[in-house]
Amino acid sequence: MEKLVIEGGRKLFGEVTISGAKNAALPLIAASLLAPGVHTLHNVPDLRDTRTILRLLVSLGLSWERTGSTLKIDGTGLSCSEASYDLVKTMRASVLVLGPLLARLGRAKVSLPGGCAIGARPINFHLMGFEQLGVSCDIKHGYVDARIDGRMHGGTVYFDVPSVTGTENLIMAASLAKGTTVIKNAAREPEIGNLIEMLVSMGADIEGRDSSRLTIHGVEQLQAAENHITPDRIETGTYAMAIGAAGGDAVIRSCNPSHLPSLLDKLRLTGIDVEAAEDSLRIRSSNKNPLQAVDITTMPYPGYPTDLQAQFMALMSMSSGLSVIHETIFENRFMHVAELKRMGANINIDGRIAMVKGLGGKVLTGAQVMATDLRASSSLVVAGLAAKGRTEVSRIYHLERGYENMVGKLTGLGAVVWKEDE
Ligand code: EPU
Repeated sequence: MEKLVIEGGRKLFGEVTISGAKNAALPLIAASLLAPGVHTLHNVPDLRDTRTILRLLVSLGLSWERTGSTLKIDGTGLSCSEASYDLVKTMRASVLVLGPLLARLGRAKVSLPGGCAIGARPINFHLMGFEQLGVSCDIKHGYVDARIDGRMHGGTVYFDVPSVTGTENLIMAASLAKGTTVIKNAAREPEIGNLIEMLVSMGADIEGRDSSRLTIHGVEQLQAAENHITPDRIETGTYAMAIGAAGGDAVIRSCNPSHLPSLLDKLRLTGIDVEAAEDSLRIRSSNKNPLQAVDITTMPYPGYPTDLQAQFMALMSMSSGLSVIHETIFENRFMHVAELKRMGANINIDGRIAMVKGLGGKVLTGAQVMATDLRASSSLVVAGLAAKGRTEVSRIYHLERGYENMVGKLTGLGAVVWKEDE
């Protein structure tokens, strides 16, 4: 196993280029199961998670080839409808193959993902949605066994809580159903818009993009298509907070600031200077005066993203004042708190609320830390870049699930950071 070593306390300058979004790449790659022929995806990040879903596609009979950030996936050979525990346990987004497999083969047997480091994360909304389209779903021996004779039919699906992958699974399934499906209280994350764009270019008929009510008129068949993965808004936000925390003046390129409405407002309130253009962001932070404490509450898009909660907490731990951080999406997403405290942060948790008492003019101190999930790990990197001394973040495979070339990108900004064997 490898760890990430950071010599903190250096300001960040220059430029960093954002990769395609992990959480858009995963559903778009899964969508290639919906039609035979060669699908072309551009701006695909090379991550542990994208490699996992490609391994899963190969196990289902597909083939792929990558040239730079362009991925060609041949959906022709689909021959298997079973996603094994070995693959699903390493990445719960593997459930995204359920909808396409049902649409194309009428059968899907996918290992239940189980809980993960941030919460129980059930998939009951996905299954309830498929049942509205006529599918019968059983859970046996740790697997969801879903099947339908013939084609799914249209139906109305209401989500109690907007679910990102639930919405994506249902849109993919309904695209090939007979008749019209309406999804109410659908999630509206930009990655879902990217998936809809791909499905429409494949021949799907979908109305309501970016809204919470989606209408999908099923079509007889879809064709292979070409698409571009949207920039990763979570990677963008992470670098914005890294520059904000460490201080400096840097430009984040190839991003889409309009996908980060809540974060950019919150950063401005802290006193960080944010200049947004169409596809770039300039972040300036003097770190002479401590940042102002600001509260956040995580919400479905366009609210403040849960995937940027941990990084904001790292930033707030050096502010001046009290910041209240309310996590409403996942019940166990404060695993970074104990590690940030080891670096000197002053944080108390009460249920789903974390109260962060900023250190005012003082700085965090480097430490050996370990995180149990992707975004928690990135918050430790943000903290480590700002901290005095050396920080060692163990188990960087978490970071490699979702951040492409993080060491190279941070080094390009002037950070002193490298990987080392544990
Ligand atoms: N939920 C249910 N039942 C379901 C589905 C969801 O109760 O069947 C609940 C969840 O437990 C949670 C809420 O609904 O409380 C929202 O969960 P959602 O389904 O939207 O999450 P997800 O689709 O499993 C995606 C991202 C996550 C991100 C969340 C929230 C992908 C591949 N994953 O997960 O990304 O945190 O939406 O925005 O898109 C990450 O990238 O680090 C990550 C965890």
